[in-house]
Amino acid sequence: MKDKQASFAEGASRDLRAPLHVGVIMDGNGRWAAQRGLPRFEGHRRGVEALRRTVRAAADFGVRYLTVYSFSSENWSRPPAEITELMGLLKFFIRSDLRTLEQEGVRVRVIGDRDNLKADIVALLDEAEARTRHNSKLDLIVAFNYGSRQEIVAAARDLAREVAAGKISPDDIDETLFASRLGTRFAPDPDLIIRTSGEMRLSNFLMWQSAYSELVFLPIYWPDFDRQAFQAALETFRARERRFGGVLESEKPKVMTAS
Ligand code: IPE
Ligand code: IPE
Ligand code: MG
Repeated sequence: MKDKQASFAEGASRDLRAPLHVGVIMDGNGRWAAQRGLPRFEGHRRGVEALRRTVRAAADFGVRYLTVYSFSSENWSRPPAEITELMGLLKFFIRSDLRTLEQEGVRVRVIGDRDNLKADIVALLDEAEARTRHNSKLDLIVAFNYGSRQEIVAAARDLAREVAAGKISPDDIDETLFASRLGTRFAPDPDLIIRTSGEMRLSNFLMWQSAYSELVFLPIYWPDFDRQAFQAALETFRARERRFGGVLESEKPKVMTAS
């Protein structure tokens, strides 16, 4: 509770009304392309441009953590050619943008399972993380080969191992310890999650972390997402009333103080 409220107070230079952590489900590339009679790949390619714009805008808006969903554990069920294209685009993005990200103060972090990724991709992800690890303006957290259920199960497995090894007792396991075993352990929970494409679901994205996130669903496809759409989503967020299970300050009964 305290941590969540601290979201709004951290950082002297940032816009205090900006969400500290924004998650984005970048959806609708295929439909964007289909609408124009183009191959799905063209939608994904234009999606990379939208990602570039979004990273820049997030930094300008004072967002400190930006998590982007770029390949889900379930996306392996797509045709092999599309999977190859998506893997290729990730490599292209890192190769073409790493230097700029590095210079602009962006720290790249990658969450998700690396076990079944090709060695060249893993090497690139490692390089991106290593080269930007001193940066602190914006954390760009790329959820790649990521699934929230898989992440939660892996955390449970890790804790079970620690109990079996006698390092911790089952009673030590609380929300804080559990969250410290998730891929997102270094970031606060997202304040805002934006999904493009009009679908209104999380599709296995940050399910533990989004317990109290504000959700904004936009009726546009990801390649059309721009600074203006981002700004509008932030305004929607600001107009929301977050309660975290409590009541608003203004609704709390007045405590009479003895004089
Ligand atoms: C999002 O666009 C990109 C990924 C899931 C990798 P989609 O490819 O899901 O596009 P739609 O939803 O089919 O339009
Ligand atoms: C979610 O989009 C995953 C990413 C944006 C990477 P999907 O297109 O895979 O989700 P569903 O299948 O519509 O739920
Ligand atoms: Mg989709």
